[in-house]
Amino acid sequence: MPKTWFYNHEVTLSHPVIRANIFFNTFLLTAIIGLSACEPNTFQEGERLYKAQCANCHMDDGIGLSALIPPIAGSDYLPANRDILPCIIRYGLKDTIVVNGKTYAEIMPGVAKLTDVQITNLLNFINNSWGNQNGLYRLEEVQATLEECRLQVQRGER
Ligand code: HEC
Repeated sequence: MPKTWFYNHEVTLSHPVIRANIFFNTFLLTAIIGLSACEPNTFQEGERLYKAQCANCHMDDGIGLSALIPPIAGSDYLPANRDILPCIIRYGLKDTIVVNGKTYAEIMPGVAKLTDVQITNLLNFINNSWGNQNGLYRLEEVQATLEECRLQVQRGER
């Protein structure tokens, strides 16, 4: 019986088209698992934290509340103050600030219980929701900023 009559597993697997296909499928599968298991989770955690910790003041859609609470959606304060946002979340803000041309002089309480990772996820959510496109934070960046603020607080400078 000639060899070509029956299915030759080795030949099939080594065929370039089949190999490319296997490679591509593996790549697709990895990408899908990666996207569904990792990315949306960090973003979803950011969203969950926003709803639990921030939405009662800044509203579900980030628009703020009249003259008292500044908006986060479309806020020009976010990209201009990227460096201090992690500290605002942990330690709060009691300042006179201008957001999209309007002045706010109220008090925002900090949320001390949030971890560095949670603050990173929260920042990535607010900076990339409701049309905001302010890029992503890396955990190391957030940690470095928070450490600086911790020292400032310790020295009584904040
Ligand atoms: C009790 C109400 C309240 C809560 C809760 C609150 N904020 Fe605020 N937030 C404020 C106020 C008031 C200001 C303005 C503070 C000032 O004038 O110094 C502010 C300012 C800000 C700003 C800078 C200005 C802007 O709008 O771009 C950001 C960013 C912000 N808050 C994010 C958050 C996030 C994220 C959370 C959840 C962890 C949160 N806030 C929770 C009241 C609140």
